[in-house]
Amino acid sequence: MELQTMQDQLTERLLQQQLVSATVSQPRLKSNDIKRIKLKPVEIKNEYLIQFEYQHEHVLKHENLPLEEACRKLESLFNDFRQALFQFTDEKVQIQLSKKFKVSWKAEQTGEKKAELSHNRKKQYLLEDGIPYPFLVRLGVQSSDGKVKKQKYDKFRQINRFIEFIDDALAYLPQDRTVRILDFGSGKSYLTFALYHYLRIEKGLDLRVTGLDLKKEVIEECQQIAEDLRYEQLEFLVGDINDYNEESAVDMVVTLHACDVATDMALSRAVKWDAKVILSVPCCQHELNSQIAASELGIMLQHGLIKERFSALATDSIRAELLSLVGYETQLMEFIDMEHTPKNILIRAYKTGRKPGAGQFKKYKQFTSLLSADPFLENELKEYL
Ligand SMILES: C[S@@+](CC[C@H](N)C(=O)[O-])C[C@H]1O[C@@H](n2cnc3c(N)ncnc32)[C@H](O)[C@@H]1O
Repeated sequence: MELQTMQDQLTERLLQQQLVSATVSQPRLKSNDIKRIKLKPVEIKNEYLIQFEYQHEHVLKHENLPLEEACRKLESLFNDFRQALFQFTDEKVQIQLSKKFKVSWKAEQTGEKKAELSHNRKKQYLLEDGIPYPFLVRLGVQSSDGKVKKQKYDKFRQINRFIEFIDDALAYLPQDRTVRILDFGSGKSYLTFALYHYLRIEKGLDLRVTGLDLKKEVIEECQQIAEDLRYEQLEFLVGDINDYNEESAVDMVVTLHACDVATDMALSRAVKWDAKVILSVPCCQHELNSQIAASELGIMLQHGLIKERFSALATDSIRAELLSLVGYETQLMEFIDMEHTPKNILIRAYKTGRKPGAGQFKKYKQFTSLLSADPFLENELKEYL
């Protein structure tokens, strides 16, 4: 098939609103920062749009385009990418482009599929408002009939968002043995209970989860709730992340809003335990703020507020880079919406064992020396770099 014929056929299907989902992949150039693009239709303010999700090495970016613009964008993607998989309402189409832009088009009837149009988060919720979940009732997020309390709606959204991440991570967890999970700085443990509920109760995974926190009373309360709910494979311990060295192997490490370098300590432990999945939302970050000095950035750094925010962003970039240098596929993602908290960057890392070339480490070093940074995490991970 000729390229133009393929483009015309895709455009026609898109214009007829037959798209359910698509993935465009296999960049022609290895140096292309975008590895994959996912497409799906969304409806926003009654307008039918196509959402493009660009998967860069470490970040996801989205844009929602009106149909005709989306068709043009899709056409342009085939200049740089060689593979695509489209799910339309009635068939699946697999496309492969040769080096010389010859097209292989394989279609397979799939029976009626419907596009999930709503951009409304309710659709994506894995826990539903109106269905009582014992842990949410017990934690006061829902009333006993399952209605989410008005003042707890943000928490409910956050829990659901977190479960989406857990759901994505499921494929990276072993299925043939007890999965070991640690939640560092678990605090009131909404998310620890949510994680347990989803993986154990809904997915039936054999697991053992430990929540660790400095606060004795909070931990005792959480332990009591776990016992009352008969969550037998969930336990809570009082302890400091910095001293916790009880394990030899852990499959998943979660750290949500653990303060300052406690996050780094948790990340370094996770790497040493060969964790397959790391989910980390850092909290306050003072380390870099006290080190950073770069005359080239003087215009920014002269403002305390900007320096603080810049340091926090640089710290998370450094953490993500270090994890990728030691063999993790790492992305920085938005955890919850900006209006609720500025602490909304989630570091998601899946162990692949693939390490980037030496050039990447050099780039990392250039960055840290530009900032005069001597990251705690780098020192912790020295032997792996
Ligand atoms: C902001 S709360 C977040 C709680 C929970 N992870 C969440 O996301 O809802 C941070 C928690 O981390 C705990 N924490 C901070 N530093 C810690 C450390 N070094 N060791 C253990 N817990 C720590 C605090 O006691 C606090 O409960």
